[in-house]
Amino acid sequence: MNDFRMLRVFNDASVRGYASVKARLGENSLGHFEGDSLAERVVRELAYERALPVKEVVEAFEFFAVVRKYLRRSPHIVDLCSGHGLAGILFAIYERRTASVTLCDKRKPERWDHVWRACVKAAPWIEGRVQYTEGRLQVTRESLPQGAAFLGVHACGQLSDLCIDIATEREGPLAIMPCCRAHAQNPAPKGLRQALGEDVAYDVDRTYALERKRYQVRWREIANAITPMNRVLIAVPRPAA
Ligand SMILES: C[S@@+](CC[C@H](N)C(=O)[O-])C[C@H]1O[C@@H](n2cnc3c(N)ncnc32)[C@H](O)[C@@H]1O
Repeated sequence: MNDFRMLRVFNDASVRGYASVKARLGENSLGHFEGDSLAERVVRELAYERALPVKEVVEAFEFFAVVRKYLRRSPHIVDLCSGHGLAGILFAIYERRTASVTLCDKRKPERWDHVWRACVKAAPWIEGRVQYTEGRLQVTRESLPQGAAFLGVHACGQLSDLCIDIATEREGPLAIMPCCRAHAQNPAPKGLRQALGEDVAYDVDRTYALERKRYQVRWREIANAITPMNRVLIAVPRPAA
């Protein structure tokens, strides 16, 4: 099973279980990331800084690997409910076309400075291209750039629906990995929820809603060894006929 695209060490069955570990990535993990790839250099710096839990690092890399080709044409990336913001930062690290990345969350997480220091150390070219906007999305949404692509990684419950609203208002592409679906804003019909399960039913509902707004929606996933909330919805506006 080769479903890790960037941090391929986790395709090894003996290491796989480590991908979901909630303890902080630290120097004791360095043995798994000894190579010279950019990904390994970023992970090593994050480990030196003890910046994030292992799972958060792996999740951000694998989400980025799944969505990057659909979103990278946009010069601006906005990571909504970004928390540590690593998914957004990876666009600045890997994509030359990404002129700016805006991370939006109601507040910066405690160790965000460590995350940023590690990423700049591994990829100094990101300096000046990433900004953090603090505040509730319901308020800060007004200031978000036009022509951007939007990310929402585990934006809880109806915040995933807010991510959809913001992206569709601006007609920008979007990639979300929803979670806490029981709190979704637009519950799917009961029959669908009973037949398909709530998780699938809500995402079916979101998919139809996006398609009605002239988006093409793809379903992808990251490895479920990282998280069971692993479905990724990628929505790209259809060109005008
Ligand atoms: C489950 S975390 C996901 C964080 C990050 N995207 C990740 O993958 O780790 C949800 C985030 O949403 C943020 N959040 C919750 N309500 C918010 C709101 N009204 N406006 C902006 N951010 C909010 C929280 O502070 C938290 O960082």
